[in-house]
Amino acid sequence: MAQLQRPLIIQSQFIRLCCPRNARKTLTITPPRHCKLHTSTVTDNDIARLASLPLHPLTLADLVKHGRPPLNTPQLLTSANFTLSILPARLAHRIQSLRNLPFIVVSNPHISKIHSNYIHSLSTLLPWAEREITTLEDEVKFTEVMADLVQTHSNTISVLARGFLEARKYISPKDVTRFLDEHLRARIGTRLIAEQHLALHFSSQPHHDVTHTHDVEEPPSGFIGVIDTKLRPAKIVQHCEAVVSEICELKYGVRPHVVINGEPEYTFAHVPVHLEYIITELLKNAFRATVESGMEREPIEVTIAPLPEEQPGNNVDNGGEAKAIKNVDQGNVDVASRSFTHKDDSSSIASEQIRPLAHSTPGVTIRIRDRGGGISPENYAHIWDYSFTTFNEDQVSATLSGSSSSKSGSGMDALNAISGPGGDGANSLAGLGYGLPLGRAYAEYFGGGIAVQSLWGWGTDVYLSLKGVGKID
Ligand SMILES: Nc1ncnc2c1ncn2[C@@H]1O[C@H](COP(=O)(O)OP(=O)(O)OP(=O)(O)O)[C@@H](O)[C@H]1O
Ligand SMILES: [Mg+2]
Repeated sequence: MAQLQRPLIIQSQFIRLCCPRNARKTLTITPPRHCKLHTSTVTDNDIARLASLPLHPLTLADLVKHGRPPLNTPQLLTSANFTLSILPARLAHRIQSLRNLPFIVVSNPHISKIHSNYIHSLSTLLPWAEREITTLEDEVKFTEVMADLVQTHSNTISVLARGFLEARKYISPKDVTRFLDEHLRARIGTRLIAEQHLALHFSSQPHHDVTHTHDVEEPPSGFIGVIDTKLRPAKIVQHCEAVVSEICELKYGVRPHVVINGEPEYTFAHVPVHLEYIITELLKNAFRATVESGMEREPIEVTIAPLPEEQPGNNVDNGGEAKAIKNVDQGNVDVASRSFTHKDDSSSIASEQIRPLAHSTPGVTIRIRDRGGGISPENYAHIWDYSFTTFNEDQVSATLSGSSSSKSGSGMDALNAISGPGGDGANSLAGLGYGLPLGRAYAEYFGGGIAVQSLWGWGTDVYLSLKGVGKID
């Protein structure tokens, strides 16, 4: 068993990454100094064995089932053991899936970095696998492993984006989209499971004596770990509007304003950071289109519409049936990796688990309407492809100075966007071509969705629907 010299990460940086804004002030813990994580060497056998285990869909209800914090000792241990029972297999599936990419693609230093991150995380989990966490001391150590996991994978998206752009000669855009869609959906779940235990740990009392923490406070009312049971979408929209407006003003010198209507007081239970991510991406797109088409005087309209309860057929697809959470929505079935190895393993698709959502599950549809000219029919076919973007620095300057040029998706622009300040596109209005597909992955993860309706020459309506948690005892 190897020891790993790596500073412990239970500190503000990772808390910022994984905890709801309102809950952050309560999350204080003093980590043991010079702590090392135990690791075990990961063998090919370990990966094959764990990757052969089926993955099951996760619901928000699974994440809140340990009770409201502060959790007592048995509840906290149950949460740790639940987390432990799920994660090793999930990591092994990702490793297997990366290994199934064409060799020249996995050899790219950025993609291979992601592969080694997964091997590292599995090596920190293996010493815990197949045992039960029964003491608070072990729970604290396990929480350190979770902190390391969250931190290790925090900038995966920009690293993968760069890797796939560099390797684009060797893998088709369709295959990249197929791989990323599965991989990033699976990543959403893995992070959420780890973050949920971390947040429950920090907002609970039992480890107080073990960690000598003196200032653990009550969690803000309504939070169960990273889930806010009183999440008000309008508040998130206002917060995202402020962030996106700043970026827009810096880039273009103007900012369109946002009007919120519908039912701004509506609340439901969901993961605020997910909603924040999606709304930020949708507002960035709406702001950019509005300004680039010279319509910044026209407001962007955001309508908050609660989904009617007890009625089937209120999902975004208007398909007439309540949406179920499927394994494919959560990237659990490795369809993409099988496509590279040409192995037909239909048994795992057939055994796909589906969790129906109760009709009474509350939820919301948020419509974001802009007058930014819409999306051309030729581009519309590609908006869900990872890396598809019409963003182009030169073209933006040309548009703003009054001359026109044609729009087209380009790998180089995305590479420039990653290389630019911010590195991951976080501080730019557009450029990676990840906003819509990744936003949809977040929405679909728990049974919601995103639908885009473009009136070419006029504007765009985007419908984001999200389902909350049903009854919470
Ligand atoms: N509201 C909108 N109005 C007009 N075009 C849009 C709108 N939303 C998306 N698009 C088009 O869809 C493309 C893909 O959008 P997406 O958000 O996935 O990527 P991006 O905005 O180019 O880059 P990123 O979001 O990763 O920074 C955009 O480049 C743009 O051409
Ligand atoms: Mg975007």
